[in-house]
Amino acid sequence: MSGLVPGRVVERREWAPGLISLKLEAEVEPHVAGQFRNLGLELDGEPCLRSYSVASAPSDATQEFLIARVEGGLLTPRLTQLGVGDTALVSAKPQGFFTLKYVPEAKDLWCIATGAGLGPFMALVREGRLHERFERVVLVHGVRTSQELAYEQELQALSSERLRYLPALSRAQREGALSGRVTHALEQGALERAAGFELSPERSHVLLCGNPDMITEFSAGLARRGLKKHRVREPGHVSFEKYW
Ligand SMILES: Cc1cc2nc3c(=O)[nH]c(=O)nc-3n(C[C@H](O)[C@H](O)[C@H](O)COP(=O)(O)OP(=O)(O)OC[C@H]3O[C@@H](n4cnc5c(N)ncnc54)[C@H](O)[C@@H]3O)c2cc1C
Ligand SMILES: NC(=O)c1ccc[n+]([C@@H]2O[C@H](COP(=O)([O-])OP(=O)(O)OC[C@H]3O[C@@H](n4cnc5c(N)ncnc54)[C@H](OP(=O)(O)O)[C@@H]3O)[C@@H](O)[C@H]2O)c1
Repeated sequence: MSGLVPGRVVERREWAPGLISLKLEAEVEPHVAGQFRNLGLELDGEPCLRSYSVASAPSDATQEFLIARVEGGLLTPRLTQLGVGDTALVSAKPQGFFTLKYVPEAKDLWCIATGAGLGPFMALVREGRLHERFERVVLVHGVRTSQELAYEQELQALSSERLRYLPALSRAQREGALSGRVTHALEQGALERAAGFELSPERSHVLLCGNPDMITEFSAGLARRGLKKHRVREPGHVSFEKYW
């Protein structure tokens, strides 16, 4: 298939069983933070490709992806087994509109991810330019247990008064992490308490990424607070990337 180039795995990290990140060396066009690429393998003589958000900063020489293995899935059971020195197929051109270009002016940016949905936010945070646009940024990562908090140390190190990193665990309890689903934390007011300020249509834009049910339910919770979906022709406060 045209537009695909080989990507050599130069680093693999396993965060939890079935949750890995891969760094690839590949001759690709640069991405904008938030975009995705087609990534895959040749299976039975045909390329098998899926979309994956680029987690590395645009200036990074390697392409990093955070990948969850889907049981029974066609690609991920094999993709997540790649090791250093193996080769994948990657699209030279990045794609997608989940980027700051399509986010209207706002004072506070709230980034809400579940699972591997953290990927595009890693690119945004690593790029290090969020504070050119926003006074305050909150990054919420909802996972089941602590070990699925990929990049936690890196995010803790980057966090500050203006960049609040809030992990949330749905099936475990730990000091320093919110308890329960991110939707529950929104409804209970725990998200805003942990961030130290309010979500409001006047100040906030919300980016949601990952599990489609989370996005639907979180959007409904935001709608009850007066934050509605952002459209080019009808500006709002919520943008999202559903992974399936
Ligand atoms: C824009 C975009 C960006 C994406 N970025 C990432 C990323 O950075 N990291 C990542 O891990 N995935 C990402 N995905 C999901 C990815 O493209 C694949 O759908 C996923 O990896 C499953 O591929 P598969 O071939 O193993 O499963 P398939 O054989 O394609 O699917 C099997 C079944 O699982 C469902 N499914 C797909 N993904 C999931 C999932 N994550 N959890 C539960 N069920 C699922 C499908 O709807 C289907 O019913 C992204 C999707 C989109 C649309
Ligand atoms: N992440 C991993 O370590 C891992 C490892 C191996 C395989 N997988 C597989 O990969 C796929 C994706 O897993 P994932 O962990 O990335 O994502 P996920 O299944 O979407 O789970 C991530 C987080 O989202 C929460 N969530 C689920 N539905 C929600 C909703 N409607 N509203 C709010 N929060 C919701 C989950 O809470 P609950 O706990 O309440 O469901 C969990 O805290 C799944 O098929 C999974 O089995 C994941």
